[in-house]
Amino acid sequence: MGVIVKGLGASLPEKVLTNYDLEKMVDTSDEWITTRTGIKERRIAGEDEPSSKFAIAAGKQAIEDAGLKPQDIDAVIVATVTPDMMFPSTGCIVASELRMGDIPAFDISAGCSGFLYGMSIADSFIRSGKAENVLVIGVETLSKITDWTDRTTCILFGDGAGAAVLSRSDEEGILAIEIRADGSKGELLYMPAGGSRMPASEYTVKNRLHYLKMNGREVFKHAVTKMPAISKLALEKAGVDIKDVALFIPHQANQRITVSTGERLGIDMDRVYSNIDRYGNTSAASIPIAWREAYDKGLIKKDDIILLAAFGAGFTWGAAVVKWRKP
Ligand code: UT7
Repeated sequence: MGVIVKGLGASLPEKVLTNYDLEKMVDTSDEWITTRTGIKERRIAGEDEPSSKFAIAAGKQAIEDAGLKPQDIDAVIVATVTPDMMFPSTGCIVASELRMGDIPAFDISAGCSGFLYGMSIADSFIRSGKAENVLVIGVETLSKITDWTDRTTCILFGDGAGAAVLSRSDEEGILAIEIRADGSKGELLYMPAGGSRMPASEYTVKNRLHYLKMNGREVFKHAVTKMPAISKLALEKAGVDIKDVALFIPHQANQRITVSTGERLGIDMDRVYSNIDRYGNTSAASIPIAWREAYDKGLIKKDDIILLAAFGAGFTWGAAVVKWRKP
C-alpha cells in the first residue's frame, strides 16, 4: 500500500496590490522590493473574505481534480496562522460547508511549513488505516494581520489558498516527508497579542500588537540553511538524487532564498518553480498554489519526482519528495 497525491486545487483573491500601490502607502519603492524579494504584486482578500472562503474553493477544486466527491473525504486538515476565528477551527468550517459529514476536521499552526506538516499528518492517517482520502489545505489571509505602516513586513505577504487530496493507492507517491521545529526562535516571527499570553486589550490594540512582527534578517539566515539541509535529508530517505528531481517547488518567501536554496542543492533554476513575483509570500498556501499552477502549465508529468521544502514561523521547516502518479 502507498499514498499518492490524487488532486490539487488553488484559490486566490481577485484584488491585486502592486509595488506601485505600496509606494503610496509606505516609504518604499518598486525597485527595492523587486531586487530584495522578487515580488511585483500580491493578492489581497476583501474585508468580507475570510480564509475559509479560499480554503473551501481550493478544497473543492482538489476534490474534483481527484475525481472524488466531498463525501469521499475522511479527514480535513487546514494549515493556517490566519484562521477565520481562534475557534472553532477553519477545518470544521470547510468540512461543514462542503457537507462532508461527521469526519475529523482541524487546524494546524506551523507557519509557512504548515502545508508540509499537514501532508505528513495526512500520510500517517492513511498509512495507519484511519483514512483513505485526506484533504490538506494551506490557506492564509495574512493581509489581515499585516501592519500596513511597517515597510519591513507589509511588502512581503499575500493571501490565497492551495489544497491537495492524499489517497491510499497501490502505487507509492509520498517517498519521504521530514518535518522539524525549534520553538526557541519563536519571537523572530510572531504575532504577540490575541492569545492567552496577551489577550486583546486597549493596550494591545494601541501598541499594534495584533500584527505580524518579524526579524527579517534572522529569518532569512535560518531559511537558507535549514531548507537545503532538510531537502537533502528527505532526498536521502527517499533514495533520490537531486539530478532526478523534475521540479523543486520551494515555499515562496523571497526569490533570494529560493535561488540560494537551489544553489546549495545543486539544481538548475529551470527546474525550480517560482511565482513569488505575482503572489508574494502566502505562507502555508504558497507550496500548493505553486504546485497547482505548475500542474496547470503542464510542467509535471506522470512519474516525475517533485521536491517540496519550506521554512517559517515556529521556527518550523520541512521537505517532501513526491512521485507524481497522475496521468
Ligand atoms: O516565509 C518565511 C518567513 N519570512 C521570510 O522568509 C522572510 C525572510 N527575510 C527576508 O526576506 C528579508 O530579510 C527582507 C526582504 C524582509 C529584508 O531584506 P534584507 O535584505 O534582509 O533587508 P534588511 O532588513 O537588511 O534592510 C536593508 C535596508 C535597511 O536600511 P538601512 O538600515 O540599511 O539603512 C532597511 O531599513 O533596507 C531598509 N528597508 C527598506 N527600504 C525600502 C527595509 N524594508 C524596506 C522597504 N523599502 N520596504
